[in-house]
Order: sequence, then structure tokens, then C-alpha cells
Amino acid sequence: MIERVARGTFPRKHHIALRGDDGALRWEECLTRKGFDGLYTIAYHEHRPHEHRVASVEHGFTLPVAAPPQGMAKRHYRSLDVPVRAGAQVDVRVPLLFNEDVVVGIARPDQADPVYYANADADEVLFIFQGGGVLRTMLGDLRFEQDDYVVIPKGLFYRTLPDAGPQTWLTVEALGGVHIPTQWRNEAGQLRMDAPYSHRDFRAPTFVGPLDEGIRQLLVKRGHTFSAFTLQHSPLDVVGWDGAVYPFVFPILNFQPRAGLVHLPPDWHGTFAARGALLCSFVPRVVDFHPEAIPCPYPHSSVDCDEVLFYCRGNFTSRRGVGPGSISYHPAGIPHGPHPGAYEASLGAQRTDELAVMMDTLRPLIPTAAALAVEDPGYQDSFIS
Ligand SMILES: [Fe+2]
Repeated sequence: MIERVARGTFPRKHHIALRGDDGALRWEECLTRKGFDGLYTIAYHEHRPHEHRVASVEHGFTLPVAAPPQGMAKRHYRSLDVPVRAGAQVDVRVPLLFNEDVVVGIARPDQADPVYYANADADEVLFIFQGGGVLRTMLGDLRFEQDDYVVIPKGLFYRTLPDAGPQTWLTVEALGGVHIPTQWRNEAGQLRMDAPYSHRDFRAPTFVGPLDEGIRQLLVKRGHTFSAFTLQHSPLDVVGWDGAVYPFVFPILNFQPRAGLVHLPPDWHGTFAARGALLCSFVPRVVDFHPEAIPCPYPHSSVDCDEVLFYCRGNFTSRRGVGPGSISYHPAGIPHGPHPGAYEASLGAQRTDELAVMMDTLRPLIPTAAALAVEDPGYQDSFIS
């Protein structure tokens, strides 16, 4: 999604014969977006990639269901209080907030995915709050660590193999896709020199060639329904590929933040754009340098956006009572801003060490029962001085 990548063996033109050393014909799999008009990748399999039998569904995570309507308020969900249950991410993800464009949840897996999984509804963005591991696909292995964004294209089969130890991942399903904000690209698609990241900041999979893990089960989510299939061959039987559809990692600390004479709006922190949503990265940085600047965010009514903030670590200058793993949700329709005292206290500040992921959404977000179960009931009133 950042640039064309080529790995392994592939023929000199699209759609011409590629043969192995034994003369066997390889099988193309064209993974295409927007029908055949968008980004694509062509992979070359040792076996026909479209041989699979329908099987019974034995895996799948909780799908988002709206909690009973509560009315509008500023909310604070303690995501680390979501009960942990043993299992793989395909089984233990918990959706917390959703709308027609995004599903935001938390995953705390302690096992590798026992099946290959494809989200045919959405591109996925995992933010690794805690832990690390490997994302395994037919395009290669992609190592991820704490503080990494992992972006997984819609429809690509994958497994996650978490490292031993605690794992906490913020999960975002972008139902209309996710991409680099257009303002960070030049006319040829290259990242602009004044973008907050460069091509060198992103990691593509490491490709080693065909792999057979002995797993023949495939789980696919499409239309918020899980289906299962039994594969005839390993789906990782790929000898080479090229294209612009592949998973990648972007470490949040590679984001190049900006400071202005006075406070810059969140768009300057825009990292990934999705249909109806913008994901922003707030990383440690110097702050505004006008001698009378107020570095703390100003109270605002961003009347077209709900705002979600996932707090990672550091001192959050504008908020009290939130900590690592907190998710604040401030709906459009009522102003939001700093906690009492924070605005004044920020005068003269020169740095902030906050680390957070923010998302603005155009459509209202809906909490699930799992979100309500970890809600901090005193949050709305904590803004009253
Ligand atoms: Fe805001």
C-alpha cells in the first residue's frame, strides 16, 4: 500500500506462464481492490489457490452489537479491564465501539491463530500496545513489536503468532479501507518530503518462499458473518509475488510530529485515513513556541466528528483520570476540551511526552455491552471545576 514490492520468482509479464524447475505450471492469484481498478498484487502459487471445501465454523470473535442506548456523554472505557480469556485473536477480540465505517476493539491473545483468517469486510489496523509477534501471510512473515501499527489488507489470509507474555492490541476494522492520507502523497504517489513519514519508515513482509504449516482450515468474515473452509493445500505455497497490496508495519515512534507557533489541529497528526475516519498519532514532541502559546488543546466543538483517544503512556497534559489503556470517547454535539486546570497549567510548557492513538469518525460511534462493562462512571462530571 506504500509502494510496489517484488519478492521471489515471477514471470516477466502479467498472466504468462511461470513454471517450476520440474516444469509444473504455477497458479496466479490476483488480489485486486475496487474491482480491477485499484491497487493489486499478483502471487504465484504451486497449487490452485481456489480449491477449498465448505466446513463447519469453529472459530470467530464476538461481533459488534449495540448496547441499549444511553444518551450522549463523554465516556471513558478502561480497556485493560475487559476480561481476558485464553485464546487466539480470531477468537478473543472484543469490539467496544463501532459504526458503519469502523469497529474499534481490544484483543489480548495468548495463542497463535489455529486457522488462517481473512477479514473480507475490512482492512485491519492493529496497534500493538503491549507485546509483539509475527503476522504470517502468503506474502511472507511480518514481525511486529510494541508501539507498531500493523496494517492488514482486506481479504488476505493470515495468522498471528504472538510472542510469549502479555499481549494487548487495539484493533480497528476499516470497513471502507484504509490508506495514507492523500495530502501526504505527491502526484506520482510517492510520500512527499514534507509528509510526517517517509517510505523508509514502513516495513513490508520478509518473504522466504513456500511454507506448509500443516494447517488446512480457513476462516473468512464477510458481511459480519464467519464462514469456514477446508483447504486442499497450504495457502502459503507461494514462490513469488509483486504488487502494492500487502501487510505492513509502521512504528508509531517513526511518526514525525510537528509543532507550530501556536497549537496545530489534529489533522497534522493524521497517519491513516479510512472511510469516515482519520487515525492520528500523538507522539512525544516539542510544543508550540509563541511566548504566550497555550500548548494544551483548546476546547472545541468539532461538530462533524466523534473522537476516540487510546492512551498508551506518558503524561496526558489535557486529561485527568486516564492512564495507559484508557479509551476516551467524546461525541460530536457537545464541546470537549481539557480537564480543569490543565489549560492554564500548560502555559510555558515546552514538551509533551504523551503517546496516544486518536481517531475522529464522521458517523456516530455506538458502544457495545463490553464497553459499558468497563466504563468509568465519573468521567463526564470530571470536567466540572
Ligand atoms: Fe478533540
